[in-house]
Formats: sequence, structure tokens, C-alpha cells
Amino acid sequence: MNKIVYIVSLLFVGILACEGGNPCCFLPCQNRGVCMSTGPETYECDCTRTGFYGENCTTPELMTWIKIKLKPSPNTVHYILTHFKGFWNILNNIPFLRDAIMRYVLTSRSHLIDSPPTYNSDYSYKSWEAYSNLSYYTRTLPPIPEDCPTPMGVAGKKTLPDVKLVVEKFLLRKKFIPDPQGTSLMFAFFAQHFTHQFFKSDMKRGPAFTRSLAHGVDLSHIYGDNLERQYKLRLFKDGKLKYQVVDGEVYPPTVKDVQVDMHYPPHIPEEHRFAVGHEAFGLVPGLMMYATIWLREHNRVCDVLKQEHPEWDDERLFQTTRLILIGETIKIVIEDYVQHLSGYHFKLKFDPELLFNQRFQYQNRISAEFNTLYHWHPLMPDAFHIQGQVYSYKQFVFNNSLLMEHGINNLVESFTNQIAGRVAGGQNLPPAVMMVAMKSIENSRQMRFQSLNEYRKRFMMRPYTSFQEMTGETEMAAELEELYGDIDAMEMYPGLMVEKPRPNAIFGETMVEMGAPYSLKGLMGNPICSPEYWKPSTFGGKVGFEIVNTASLQTLVCRNVKGPCPVASFHVPDVKDTGSATINSSTSQSRQSDVNPTVILKERTSEL
Ligand code: HEM
Ligand SMILES: *[C@@H]1O[C@H](CO)[C@@H](O)[C@H](O)[C@H]1NC(C)=O
Ligand SMILES: *[C@@H]1O[C@H](CO)[C@@H](O)[C@H](O)[C@H]1NC(C)=O
Ligand SMILES: *[C@@H]1O[C@H](CO)[C@@H](O)[C@H](O)[C@H]1NC(C)=O
Ligand SMILES: *[C@@H]1O[C@H](CO)[C@@H](O)[C@H](O)[C@H]1NC(C)=O
Repeated sequence: MNKIVYIVSLLFVGILACEGGNPCCFLPCQNRGVCMSTGPETYECDCTRTGFYGENCTTPELMTWIKIKLKPSPNTVHYILTHFKGFWNILNNIPFLRDAIMRYVLTSRSHLIDSPPTYNSDYSYKSWEAYSNLSYYTRTLPPIPEDCPTPMGVAGKKTLPDVKLVVEKFLLRKKFIPDPQGTSLMFAFFAQHFTHQFFKSDMKRGPAFTRSLAHGVDLSHIYGDNLERQYKLRLFKDGKLKYQVVDGEVYPPTVKDVQVDMHYPPHIPEEHRFAVGHEAFGLVPGLMMYATIWLREHNRVCDVLKQEHPEWDDERLFQTTRLILIGETIKIVIEDYVQHLSGYHFKLKFDPELLFNQRFQYQNRISAEFNTLYHWHPLMPDAFHIQGQVYSYKQFVFNNSLLMEHGINNLVESFTNQIAGRVAGGQNLPPAVMMVAMKSIENSRQMRFQSLNEYRKRFMMRPYTSFQEMTGETEMAAELEELYGDIDAMEMYPGLMVEKPRPNAIFGETMVEMGAPYSLKGLMGNPICSPEYWKPSTFGGKVGFEIVNTASLQTLVCRNVKGPCPVASFHVPDVKDTGSATINSSTSQSRQSDVNPTVILKERTSEL
């Protein structure tokens, strides 16, 4: 049956006159069909296993047709998951139902990611070079061919609007718009810290290349992305990392101590040049705060393991601790971070066993589109409020003196209490990082990204039919229409930034429907989630496995700060959530700031 459909589909050969250009410039093949030119003016769509057939892979097979008819829209699914709290509270406590839903979330999302990976920014067709050269980010959609009439293929104008104009008109903040989901700066800095281990563009080679060859959660931001750097950061005693003690508190060592390269401007004094896995983490104290917490966690877990295994050498203690920290990271990202971001009342679960009877590849490749969409700089506030003091960007950036001045516990408390900016909806980018947004648009153009609408189709969304539909308003929409000419020529990154947010949400539909598949595939595709790894012995036995399986942001902080432990949350306390009710300490991650830490610890462990 499949064979017949395949042969039939090959009988169709599209003909497109394209000013001598490539016929695939029309992006004719729908539903993940593959376009191949068959001469200067003809093309073929390969519809194999897409569930569709016909010249442009547009006619559904019977099963596909039924599935389309039954499938609710992403917005409907999102609505259900973010409403009916009572229903979800019951369901969350029925293990086999919770497992079934979580399994569905994981498989339905990760099936949207090609695995093994396919294209890269220099190869718009499958090739061994694109598959095997790990220095490239992969590409979810191939680049627009060079010889097309317009930058988006055939849609829109011959040239794209001026980058600075786009950023100033639509992205730049006029007045701070707080995130209605109540996201805290604690979340924002976690996002930046966590993602920089795999978004690490190789600016010497260009935006299509990465320096993080593991393409996933390898904790290279803690341990360095090569063995030489790792060795310089290691103490080579009991598995630990090098550290220094300032006023009785543990901090990362200085660049002078360990001789690793870090990016600091010349005026930063020696004693504030901390050295950690990622070269750029001196950029903001929020990053260095997390780097310090994870450094302490590493050395703490080493102590725990050594107690269990007095016979183990430094190397084994180090390596096993690293696996435990990878597990803790994935646990926290799924159950605290993604949970917060999703706004779901359904309780997400990190349980690799859910996938053991599914078709799932334990591998991952970071794509350039994922990096671009993760430029969430509108999260950043106008200024940083720490223990009653206000720091401007100028005072905050590259200023590690704040860590010692305030201490990790007070930074955690202050970042938990300060609300982050809303990402979608436009006009919320702090002027201090305007250049970053400009750069990401320039890079997208250089890499020849397809349009926002092509990405919407790729991730099972209906393409927008107008600029008004995209922004949900008329003012920016009219101006965008004038600049871009055609909704099918709207660029991905500015599109994501100006897209209409979902009701009371931080993002619009496209950010979530694109971001979630990349994210979950990256987290669950980690080798520690595979059947041979996911067992206690990998993590040094029951005790280590337990550390992974009970990890949370709150316990991570509490186990690694001196004195009373502050509330640590991705959600600011005491904010109206989705217009429903004030958050209660029993039902959310937010707590009053003066709660007893041991109570928090007990509460949180009992939740797990
Ligand atoms: C004050 C805070 C921040 C500053 C000053 C800052 C600054 C920068 C700069 C200068 C770059 C490099 C741009 C380029 O040359 O292409 C960058 C990249 C990036 N930033 Fe931020 N950023 C901040 C916060 C954040 C946050 C909260 C996120 C949240 C996820 C984030 C995500 C990213 C990503 C994903 C990249 C691309 C990294 C790469 O490709 O190597 N940033 N940022
Ligand atoms: C296939 O796509 C091309 C380009 O968009 C279009 O000209 C052609 O009419 C389409 N063919 C069918 C059968 O829809
Ligand atoms: C990957 O591709 C780049 C660009 O063509 C090239 O410079 C580099 O040597 C390749 N890496 C490997 C390992 O082949
Ligand atoms: C850095 O932070 C300290 C507080 O820890 C502050 O006194 C100092 O002015 C800041 N440095 C700069 C350059 O703003
Ligand atoms: C929050 O707690 C208060 C008192 O503890 C209670 O009256 C209220 O119903 C709770 N709200 C929700 C949404 O659980």
C-alpha cells in the first residue's frame, strides 16, 4: 500500500517557472514533504511516510484524514491543561493516568524533532557532512536556497526591512510589562544559565556553528566544554572542584588561581574574576550565583558519595557526581522550570521509564532555530532590586562583587521576589540588550531561516493569514504589513517576539509549540534517561539515585546556602495568577519569604 502511494506520488512532477531560480523557492511541499528540484524549472515532492500524497503532499491518506478530524487544536489542548484545576488535581493523583498523559506529552512533542538530525545551515539536503559534523547546529527546516527571488523564497519583498528599525519599532521596551504568569528573575537567570551549556555559538566560525559538541545537557557550563578546562577546574581530591572560601562561604576560584580563560573587561579586579565552566558567566551576577550554587552542590554530592564509597578514587567520585548533577538538572528543569513555564495544572513528571516501551531515540542535536527562539531577553527588568538596593545594568553587569556583598541567600531571595518581563506581545526588550536582538535577526537572515508561517506549519500549526491575526492588534500589524508586505514573509524571531500572547501567558502559541518539542527531546534524549543508564548503580547506588529523584530548585538552594534558607522559586510570591486566585503556599512553589527552611524542605520532599 505504502509503495503504491509512493510510486503514484512520483508521477506528479511540479513545474514552476521561477525567473530561472530554484523551483523549491516556492516551498511547494506541504506536511513535511521533501522538495527536490528535477531540472531548472521542475521539482518533486517526496511524500514518503508523511501520511499525505499528491504533487505537493497535500492530499491526506484515510488514516491521516481521520486523525486530523479528531485532533484538537494546540490552543484547545493548552486551554484544557491550564483550566479545570479541580479535575487535574484528581487526575494528578491517579498514577496510571498521570503516567499515560505524561507519556503522551513526551512522545507527541518529541516526534516533531527529526532524530537522527538532518539539515544544517550549509546543507539543505541530507548529507553525511551535515549529519556527522557536530560543529554545526542542526536545522529543523532547511535554509532558503540562495538563488530565490526573495529572502523568504517567493513571498514578500526583495529585501527585508532594516534590522534596527524592526527592533526599535516592535521589540524595544517603552514601559516595563510584567509577565502575567508571575515569572521571577530566579527563573530568568536559571534559563540563561541552563541553556548556555548548549547554546554556545562559535562566533569565530559564525552563527551556524556551536562550540558545545555534546548538543545537550552535559553540564559543560559547570565542568568546561573540553578536558583541559575541566582539569584546570578540578581539585583532584575526593572528586571535587576547586573553590575558595570568602567570609566563611564557598565561591568559585579566581582566574588567577586556576588559569582558565574567562571573558571579563579590563577594569574588573583580580579577586572578582571568578572562574567556572562557561567562559561568559562573569557577565551577570545571576549567572555566577547559579554557578556558585552548582559548584557547592557538586562538592556536597562528592562528600555524600565518598561516605557511601570510601574505596572510590577521585576520578570515579567526580564522574559519578557529574551524572547525579545531570539527573538533578533534568529533574528540576521538567518538574519546576517547564512546569512553571507551561502554566499547566497537570503535574509534569520526570520519569525516563515512561519511554522504555516507546519508539524513542536517545540522542539529540541542538538546532539553530531553538537557539534563536530562546533569546528571551524581554525577561530582563529595567533594573535589579537586591536587598532594598537598586542596581542599573551598568552597575550589575560583570559585577561579581554583588555575590559577596549580598551573599547567595540574599540574591536568591531578591531574584525570587522580582518579577520578570513578558516575552511575547512586543515592545518589552530592555534597551540595554537591544544589540542582542538585532544580532539574532541578522544571524537568522545570514542562516536563511524560513518564515514564521513555514515554522508554524512544520510544528503542526495553521499558518497565520494576516498580521492582525499574528499580533492580535492593529497598530503594529499595520506597520509590519507595510514593512514585510506579506504575512508569509514574516521572519521567525521578530514574529515570536510580537506574537499575541495566550491569555495571561508569557508566550504566544508559536513559541510554546516550537520550544516544547526541542526542550523535551533534549531533556529525555540524554543518555542517562536510557534503559541501561537509568538505574541506581549509575548514580553510585540508592543514595545517589535518590538525590536525582528528589531534586528541586528549593532543595538545591537549601542544601547549599549558609544560614536560614530563603524561598527559591520560579514564580514571584503573592501575585494574582491567571486572574483566578492568590497563590496558596500549599498549592504552588511560591512561599512567604520568611518561612522556616526545614518546614519547606519537609513539605517539598513530601510532595515528591
Ligand atoms: C542582563 C542579562 C543579559 C545580557 C546582558 C545578555 C547578553 C547577551 C549577549 C551579549 C549575547 C551574545 C549576542 C550575540 O553576539 O549574538 C547573548 C546571547 C544569548 N542570550 Fe542573553 N543576555 C542576558 C540575559 C539572557 C536571558 C535571561 C536569557 C534567557 C534564556 C538569554 C538567552 C540568550 C541566548 C539563548 C543567547 C544565544 C547564545 C549563543 O548563541 O551563544 N540571555 N546574550
Ligand atoms: C503545488 O504547489 C505549486 C507551488 O505553490 C502550485 O503552483 C501548484 O498549483 C500546486 N499544485 C497542486 C496540485 O496544488
Ligand atoms: C565542520 O565544518 C566546518 C565548516 O565546513 C569545517 O571547518 C570543520 O573542519 C568541520 N569539522 C569537522 C570535524 O570535520
Ligand atoms: C558593583 O557592586 C557593588 C556592590 O556590591 C557596588 O558598590 C559597585 O558600585 C558596583 N560596581 C560598579 C562598577 O557599578
Ligand atoms: C487559599 O488559602 C485560603 C486560606 O488559607 C483559603 O481560604 C483559600 O480558599 C485558598 N485558595 C485556594 C485557591 O486554594
